[in-house]
Amino acid sequence: MSTKYAKLPAGDYELETATIAPRGTFSSWRIVLAYAAGLFSAFALRLAYFLSHPPPELFTPFPPGSTEVHRYPPPSPSNVFPSLFPSDVGHAGPTPTGAEPALVATAPSLPIHSGAAHLLAPQTLANHSERPFDVFQHWGNLSPWFSVPRSAFGVDSPPEAPEGCRVTGLHLLHRHGARYPTSGDSYGGPANFSFRLPQSQSWKARGQLDFLNDWTYKLGEEILTPFGRQQLYDLGVSMRMKYGFLLYNFTESNTIPVFRTESQDRMLSSALNFALGFFGHPLDGKYQQLITIEEHGFNNTLAPSKTCTNSHDHAKGDRGTPYVRQWAEIYLRDALVRLRAQITGVDLVIEDAYIMQQLCAYETVALGYSQFCELFTPAEWAGFDYSVDLHFWYSSAFGSPVARGLGIGYVQELVARLSHTPIATHNSSTNATLADDPRTFPLGQSLYVDATHEVVVLNVLTALNLTSFAKDGPLPATHIPHNRAFRTAHLAPFATNVQFQLLSCDSTPDPQIRVIVNDGVVPLTGIRGCPESADGACPVSVFIDAMREIIGETDWAWACLGDWEVPPGTAWNTTRGAPPERS
Ligand SMILES: *[C@@H]1O[C@H](CO)[C@@H](O)[C@H](O)[C@H]1NC(C)=O
Ligand SMILES: *[C@@H]1O[C@H](CO)[C@@H](O)[C@H](O)[C@H]1NC(C)=O
Ligand SMILES: *[C@@H]1O[C@H](CO)[C@@H](O)[C@H](O)[C@H]1NC(C)=O
Ligand SMILES: *[C@@H]1O[C@H](CO)[C@@H](O)[C@H](O)[C@H]1NC(C)=O
Ligand SMILES: *[C@@H]1O[C@H](CO)[C@@H](O)[C@H](O)[C@H]1NC(C)=O
Ligand SMILES: *[C@@H]1O[C@H](CO)[C@@H](O)[C@H](O)[C@H]1NC(C)=O
Ligand SMILES: *[C@@H]1O[C@H](CO)[C@@H](O)[C@H](O)[C@H]1NC(C)=O
Ligand SMILES: *[C@@H]1O[C@H](CO)[C@@H](O)[C@H](O)[C@H]1NC(C)=O
Repeated sequence: MSTKYAKLPAGDYELETATIAPRGTFSSWRIVLAYAAGLFSAFALRLAYFLSHPPPELFTPFPPGSTEVHRYPPPSPSNVFPSLFPSDVGHAGPTPTGAEPALVATAPSLPIHSGAAHLLAPQTLANHSERPFDVFQHWGNLSPWFSVPRSAFGVDSPPEAPEGCRVTGLHLLHRHGARYPTSGDSYGGPANFSFRLPQSQSWKARGQLDFLNDWTYKLGEEILTPFGRQQLYDLGVSMRMKYGFLLYNFTESNTIPVFRTESQDRMLSSALNFALGFFGHPLDGKYQQLITIEEHGFNNTLAPSKTCTNSHDHAKGDRGTPYVRQWAEIYLRDALVRLRAQITGVDLVIEDAYIMQQLCAYETVALGYSQFCELFTPAEWAGFDYSVDLHFWYSSAFGSPVARGLGIGYVQELVARLSHTPIATHNSSTNATLADDPRTFPLGQSLYVDATHEVVVLNVLTALNLTSFAKDGPLPATHIPHNRAFRTAHLAPFATNVQFQLLSCDSTPDPQIRVIVNDGVVPLTGIRGCPESADGACPVSVFIDAMREIIGETDWAWACLGDWEVPPGTAWNTTRGAPPERS
């Protein structure tokens, strides 16, 4: 949903913002400038595109979007006096620092991340009075991330270092924070609804829908919301509190870390907010931010669809939509009857009810509160949550024929970093220019931070062969499997974070690795050779061997560029994220 099928005019307007971090230390003002220039050229490009390609039926300078647009800052404010507002006036007072925090090693348990400060949940849900129900946790990829319950993934072990072990390294893969809707939804899509309402003449809403009479669509597109910005800042703080001690390794070797993100606006903003949380202002000299280009045709493991042609073919890359459509017809049937009774002059359809659910999530994470949330029952929210699982299962994860190919590039990088061995052959989405240069792709470091999209996180979990998430087999569009393992809200919410945690344990001389998704430890028993382990750990060497086997059997060129066909729907399934074998 994040990266695919962006229709050109509305979507990918991030080109030109890319810069490669200058050699030497990271300079934040340069980024800010590049960023501003990027935003400007993005607007210019969008406008230029629209002037030269007016849509056939109507001409609007922007696609259906917010009816109210607030551009801040004003282009040339009248009260700017840089000389009166220097950024450095000296006199900072004493600045002695202390030791690094190390919660993962020092605390009896780690803080739980729950709730979402700054967001207001609905006061009531339709027809609901019983037990507490957290609607924020039932929005699939639109949920703000939260610590999943201990043993949610089947390992009854907390994320802090197990008894007798200490943490020696962390490879963090995280998603951007809450954003506005993207332009590419193939089912639903909130902007569509705002377009439909005023178009239909003289409609009138009442009852629970009364608010619609004065409602306007206020959402932008693609970029981070203020709440999304805070999520990444908080994630940076949280990681520093848990893993700050890993910076000792850098001081020892007289180096600074390299973090990676992509050029897309929300990716860059997310990474910089993470860094501000992790390092604190000013960022200069504390790390180097690599900004890779997220654009069609560019090899990029964190935006792998850009060179994976098949992922842009709906029949291959968007297999989820028919399942979502079918499921929505079932779980929203009663809601539609209820909503129809409260509006005249518009012939509401199931997709409209679906969009109202999307609007609840999007308005909440953008504006702080949404009246759409109250319209649905807990069961309907559970249905919505599952609809998102169907979408991602079939389009980006175990049920998608291209998911493994998309995720394998990051797995190759992980193996390179863990084994201190450069990538041998660039035959997937890896980028030789960056990955063969130890300045942009250092090996064997104690700390890595990579920012990406939810689809890529799911591609990677699939490529890693984390088969416990696939235990329910091809997901049915007829009902929600009991106790399902594949939950997008657990795996790929806003600011989702995957910690590859490296451990040194007294019980064994072999270094160990654990995979921790949103504070839940993931079983590695589906990975060949990884033993049953009470704390979810696997020897790093065993993990690397299995990953090399997977890399060897994953044919990126076939998955992404190959000329294969698969019938739509349930006539063909995969549960390993792979296309039909090359014949
Ligand atoms: C609310 O619950 C009652 C009792 O279970 C049921 O009869 C009614 O149909 C429900 N209303 C809605 C709007 O779901
Ligand atoms: C909105 O969705 C409806 C129903 O799927 C579709 O027919 C229509 O083309 C969409 N409109 C826009 C502007 O995307
Ligand atoms: C690799 O990345 C660099 C920097 O982002 C970019 O300039 C180059 O075009 C990429 N190479 C390929 C083959 O996409
Ligand atoms: C980009 O990816 C293609 C396909 O894997 C590969 O053939 C090519 O060598 C890569 N280019 C670079 C510069 O990494
Ligand atoms: C970081 O330093 C610690 C303590 O010296 C060491 O145990 C660990 O192996 C180092 N990590 C890496 C990745 O070098
Ligand atoms: C990947 O998972 C499959 C299915 O569970 C299993 O048969 C296979 O051995 C695994 N491969 C590796 C290398 O872990
Ligand atoms: C791609 O290169 C890796 C080594 O980096 C190799 O193990 C794998 O077999 C290659 N894949 C194909 C399809 O040639
Ligand atoms: C695909 O999976 C669905 C759901 O489990 C099942 O009904 C269908 O028979 C499967 N299709 C094939 C070709 O195995």
